[in-house]
This record gives sequence, structure tokens and C-alpha cells, in this order.
Amino acid sequence: MLSVKGLFTEYPNDRGQTVKAAQDVAFEVPEGKLFTLLGPSGSGKTTTLRSIAGLERPVAGDISVDNRVVYSSSKNVFVPPNRRNFGMVFQSYAIWPHMNVFQNAAFPLQVRANPPGEKVIKEKVMRVLAAVGLEELAGRDATRLSGGQQQRLALARAIAMEPRLLLLDEPLSNLDAKLRERMRFELKRLQSEFKLTTVYVTHDQSEALALSHQIAVMSEGRIVQLGTPREIYERPRNKFVADFVGSSNFIDASVRAAQGEPGAYRVTSALGDLDVRSVGRLAPGDKAVIAIRPEDVTLADQALPGGQNACQGRVEAKVFLGECVDFQVRIGETLLLARAHPSLRTPVGENIHLTMDPEKCIAIPNTVETAPQ
Ligand SMILES: Nc1ncnc2c1ncn2[C@@H]1O[C@H](COP(=O)(O)OP(=O)(O)OP(=O)(O)O)[C@@H](O)[C@H]1O
Ligand SMILES: [Mg+2]
Repeated sequence: MLSVKGLFTEYPNDRGQTVKAAQDVAFEVPEGKLFTLLGPSGSGKTTTLRSIAGLERPVAGDISVDNRVVYSSSKNVFVPPNRRNFGMVFQSYAIWPHMNVFQNAAFPLQVRANPPGEKVIKEKVMRVLAAVGLEELAGRDATRLSGGQQQRLALARAIAMEPRLLLLDEPLSNLDAKLRERMRFELKRLQSEFKLTTVYVTHDQSEALALSHQIAVMSEGRIVQLGTPREIYERPRNKFVADFVGSSNFIDASVRAAQGEPGAYRVTSALGDLDVRSVGRLAPGDKAVIAIRPEDVTLADQALPGGQNACQGRVEAKVFLGECVDFQVRIGETLLLARAHPSLRTPVGENIHLTMDPEKCIAIPNTVETAPQ
């Protein structure tokens, strides 16, 4: 459906140098799927989205939608943004101040080449307004909305258009935490109900994991990993991804041997010998970093019989978080973060037993690796 190939977008900066904001960005979004660009501030997410929208003119690359080329450097094609017919909500969203809420959401439908009847428009618009919780404000002047309400109106307007492609840049950023979570569900529901092919931009990893069919993690203008939320979370390909998508423990290790199954290795580390998994091929003697998430370190007062990757440590500190307790555990020189159920009451200073499922101990080759897949 959407295909982006070899996209480079650059900006001149104040000192006459070029900012390489998008570098060799490539991905495909199948019909009806939600694709997320996830990355820290300045990593090139908005630039990539604006390039797809036609609001930036890339230096090189190809962008096509439904096999229709909207940008191609080699074929010298650039379709202007208003002729691409995409729905957009940008970080700085704009609602029309001289219209009320209903009119704002209905306008793009009314000005279409073949507009649906007023009754159909009303039905569509009210349904989307209800989904974003603005049904009761339909008659209000759009300027008399809070920031979060304006943001939801911008979202409703883009969805009501039923665009071929929906481009969303941090569309929930101005909402409080509770509303943002609710809107996440609503957005996912609307997206799948209307089968909207969507490119979604966020720096919020939990939002990305919750909403996406596929995620591209960006760093310094490049896609550093592309995969399903589960792949990104459970099989980060480098330290940047492991670090950015959830907090991880990182333990230096050296590979001893490959084991029976593909991707299974035994390594030596400060925690002793560990059974781990790796996406890439490793050889004995290779250096690696083992990433283990706090929730994948199992803690117990007693040694667990048959526990894999078992070791012993001492509780250094604890933080109670309500539904869980974060333990900082010292094992020799290493400090490990572990997330446990609040029923575990081991006091600070006491010994504690740790086990780690090898499936959750991910070996990342210890090289500076930012190349895309
Ligand atoms: N109009 C511009 N002129 C010059 N440089 C720009 C311009 N827009 C963006 N940049 C630079 O390009 C890089 C990528 O910016 P971009 O807005 O794509 O990042 P982002 O991932 O969307 O970040 P954020 O999460 O903060 O919105 C940054 O270094 C930024 O400073
Ligand atoms: Mg941005």
C-alpha cells in the first residue's frame, strides 16, 4: 500500500551546513495496518512523515501509495501535498477557528469532489466525534476548546475523511495520562474498524507497543530496527533499541559455545555462566552484551529448584511502585534491576535468589551497530 524507499531528507542549518534528518529510510505499510516510527527527539520521525505528506521535498528516494508514485527523485515526480489526499494530524495541529466542532470535522467531507449527502456526513462525523469524546461539544466554537480537546478534534477530522493514508504525528501528546490511554484504545478501534492504513509517530514506547502492527525504531535519521512490537521488545538488535524500548539490564559477556537449537548460546559473565539467545550468529570468544528486562528477572527468598540461569545476590535497595516493587540486587560487582510482585518482602541487606529464563536473556553483539536490517 505505502512504500518508502531510500528516502533522504536534509535541511540547511543556520551555519550553512546540512542537517541529515532522514537517512536511507525504507519501509512498507500493508493495507489497513498501523505502522509506527518510534524514536527520541530529533531522530527524524516528523521529517519522514512530512516527506510522505509532501510537506518536505526529499533529496532522494521513492514514495508510492497504491502503486501511484507521489515522489521519485529518479523519475522527477513530486505530487503536491493537497493532491495526495492523505489525512494528517501534526504535532502542531490546526483547527479552523471560525467553525464549530461539527463543521471542523465535516468540512473536508463537504469540499470533496463527490461529497456524500448531508445525512451521511452527519452520521459519519457524529460517530467519529463520539469516539473521541466530543459528541456533546459538536455545536461549540472550536476556539473554545482546551488544547487536548482541539487535539482530539484534529484527530476526528482526519479520521472522518476516511483517507487512503492517515499520517499522525504524536496525536495524543497533549492529553493527560488517563485520557491518553483511553484514546489509545479508541484510536486502535477506529483504525481497525475503518481499516485505515496509518503511519504513526511517537517517542512513547508503550504507545508504540500498544498500537502498532509494525514499529521502526529511529535514531539519528536512520531506522535501526524494524519489526513487530514483540520482536522489538523481546529481540532488540542493538543496545540503543534495548535501552530506548523499555529499561534493560546490560551485562558484559563472552561467548563460550553455541548450543543445540539455533540462536541458543552459552556465555560467561559477571553473573556466572548464562544460557542466552541471539538473533545474529555468534562465535566462541565473541564479546556480547546480554540485555535482560527487570520484569524477566525472577526473584525468590529460596533457591528455585530447576531454575535456569540461577545466581545469588544481596538486596541493595527497593522502590515500591504499587502494583510491583523494583529491587536493586548486587551480585558481586554487578547491580541488577528486577521487578517483582509486592508480595516479595525480602528486606534490604538480605540475600536473594535470582533466575532468568534464557529466552529472555538477549545477546547483542558488542559492536557499534546502527545499520538497518
Ligand atoms: N525546518 C528545519 N530546518 C532545519 N533543521 C530541521 C528542520 N526540521 C527539523 N530539523 C532537524 O532535523 C532533525 C530531525 O528532526 P525531526 O523533527 O524529524 O525529529 P523528530 O524525531 O520528529 O523529533 P521530536 O520527537 O522532537 O518531534 C533534527 O536534528 C532537527 O533539528
Ligand atoms: Mg517530531
